[in-house]
This record gives sequence, C-alpha cells and structure tokens, in this order.
Amino acid sequence: MSATYLMPTYNRQPISFTRGSGSWLYTKDDTPYLDALTGIAVCGLGHCHPQVTDAIQQQAATLVHTSNLFGIDWQERAGEALCTAAQMDSVFFANSGAEANEAALKLARLYANQQGFARPKVIVMEQSFHGRTLLSLSATANPKAREGFYTLDEDFIRVPFGDIEAIKQAAQKHDEICAILVEPIQGEGGLNTAANGFGYLEALQAECDAHNWLFMLDEVQTGNGRTGKYFAYQHSNARPDVLTTAKGLGNGFPVGACMVRGRANGLFGAGSHGSTYGGTPLASRVVHSVYDVLANTDIMNNAVTEGQFIRETLVDALGQYGVSARGAGMMIGVVLPEDMDCTQLVNRARDEQKLIINVTGGHVIRLLPPLNMRRDESAQVADRLIELLKSSW
Ligand SMILES: Cc1ncc(COP(=O)(O)O)c(C=O)c1O
Repeated sequence: MSATYLMPTYNRQPISFTRGSGSWLYTKDDTPYLDALTGIAVCGLGHCHPQVTDAIQQQAATLVHTSNLFGIDWQERAGEALCTAAQMDSVFFANSGAEANEAALKLARLYANQQGFARPKVIVMEQSFHGRTLLSLSATANPKAREGFYTLDEDFIRVPFGDIEAIKQAAQKHDEICAILVEPIQGEGGLNTAANGFGYLEALQAECDAHNWLFMLDEVQTGNGRTGKYFAYQHSNARPDVLTTAKGLGNGFPVGACMVRGRANGLFGAGSHGSTYGGTPLASRVVHSVYDVLANTDIMNNAVTEGQFIRETLVDALGQYGVSARGAGMMIGVVLPEDMDCTQLVNRARDEQKLIINVTGGHVIRLLPPLNMRRDESAQVADRLIELLKSSW
C-alpha cells in the first residue's frame, strides 16, 4: 500500500487480510494467521460465524433501515435478549463503544440535573479507556489520545484503578459527584485487574449506593461472553445502574448498547437522546443472532476453559523468565518483565509465528482470542508465543 486517501489516525501494520474463518485470518495468497486478537475483542464468535453471516444475509435482503421513527421488531427482540442476559431493564442501541459511553455519561448528567447540581462530576480511573467522542475521551486517561482536544477535565475526577480509599477521599473532597464509570478489567490500559478481583466492583457499588451516585460499568470490551459470563460484573454480586457494551455485541457488525436499571431507568425520554442508525433492523438482527449463540451453546464455558489453559501453559513454560498471566476467560494479559523491550513483539509474532497479538500498557501482551477457540488452536497460540518469547531473551 503506497498512496492513501485515508487520514493517518492509525499506525497500520504492513499486512491486510482478505478473508476470515473461525480463529483464522487469510492474506490474498491464502497464508493463514492464527488470530488471538479478533479485531480487538470484536469477533468473539470467530470470523464469519455461520449464524451471524446468515442473519446478515437474510436481513440485508429483507430490510436494512427504516429509522427509529417506526417500530423495529428486531430491535425489540434484540433488546429483550440483551437485557435479559445482562439483567438490565432497558437499552438504547448505538453504533459503537464510544457512543454507548457518551449515552451513559449523558445519563449521569441528567441524573445530576434531577438533583439540581450546577456542574456534576463523574469519577473515572487512571489508565481507563472509554472512547474518542469528546465526553468519552474526557473520561479516558490515555494522554496521547487526549492531547490537543481541550478535554472537559473539570467534569471528571480521576483516581487510581482498584483503590477504594481514593474513592472515599474523592467523596469527602468534592461536591456534586453523580456517578462512577469503570471498566471491570481495563483493556486498553494494560489488562489491569483489581487486587481483589471482581470484589472491587462490589466495593464500588457500595460507595455509589452510600452517596446516591450512579454505578456505571463500561463493558465494551469485557462484555458479550468475553470473560466467561455475559458481562464481567456477573462474576460478582455487584449490580450496575448503567451498563455499556459494543465490540462483541455485533461480532464485527458495528453496534453498541447502553443499558439501564432501577434509578437510571426512565432518565431518557422522547427527544432527549437518539441516533439515526442506532438499532437498525440489520444491526438488531445481528445482535439477536449473537445472543442466540451465546445462550444456546457452551461457548462461554469454552472461553473459561481455554483461557485458563492458555494462561497456565504460558506460565508453566515462561514463569521462570518472570512472565505471569492475568485476566478472565478469553481476555488474557501476559505480563512480561518491565525491562524487556517489547517494541517488536507484535511484528515478530505476525512475521515469525503467523500469530496476531497486541501489546498494551508497554509490556503486557493482550490476547483476545475467539471464545469458541478449539483446544488444538489454543495450544498453538501458547506454543507460538512461547517460541517467540524464548527467542526474545
Ligand atoms: C473499554 C472500552 N470502552 C470504549 C471503547 C471505545 O469503543 P469504540 O472504539 O467502539 O468507540 C473501547 C475500545 O477499545 C474500550 O475498550
């Protein structure tokens, strides 16, 4: 690829794929690459899952779009399947993770407005990633993503991830806090898990309940079966007021969702939020098909078993080199020694091992394989990575 009309918003790798099937991507000359990234946690059911492909094909030939000025039967059905799985009351369909979080943050403002706040604040975390619309970007920690955009910093309070004491201090120091927004496991920020695991979410909810704040979970990356439950919070006894998701929701078809429950339900009314494309018949039928697969197969159990297998195999072979693993289900962080030079790992994995991975947080390999990866494929992910890393020191 030489001349391009595309804005250079991404450092693209010098490769492109022309087809995908299950856990595999293929170049034009049909070279197979084992995909342990799935388009950044998107194709959780694998590339071109037959049931999703069938849903797209059938709906594309029937009705693609009518707008939300009309009833949309598939949106009703997708909403029911999603809210039932997520244990939430109602949903707004958007088109991406950032839009889902934008909706959540707007809900928090409406909630504050009901209480007469002049300038409400939302507590967010260090190393967080919530998207690139202006409000979701302002909630995001990554300095490179924020640079130059005059982010709305006075509307957010940033505290260390996993630190409940910092939340208590923020509550004492600031008036007009209306919500906490947090990822159950931080994806972009380094596959970070809290020291007490998902128990952190219960402690956060307790703070929210004590102060009458909305407890808002960003499950854009952790949702849709990725960690072995429909939503990662379901590993705990916590219950969010607001829950956002995208990525795996459409298995590659662009769609996002902001769900609400209890005191957050009913904040949006007619005209207070919207999206021309949100929840088209096509997008909704795709969501419905994804949830049909999640509900009627053992795919989430498979994510737990295979994720554990990959983590254990890697640590057995590489623990002696100071490598550890964290995460849940098929959201795996392989933590490398901090002094290791990781800059070429993604390229070397691709070129030498035909393995697609990602490195985040500087020294953490992020693996996001399909939830339905077969054991022989999981073994190959681990083996290829072990060979790569053993030749790296
Ligand atoms: C936790 C989280 N929230 C939000 C987003 C933004 O999603 P999108 O790129 O679909 O806008 C991402 C994307 O990586 C994410 O990981």
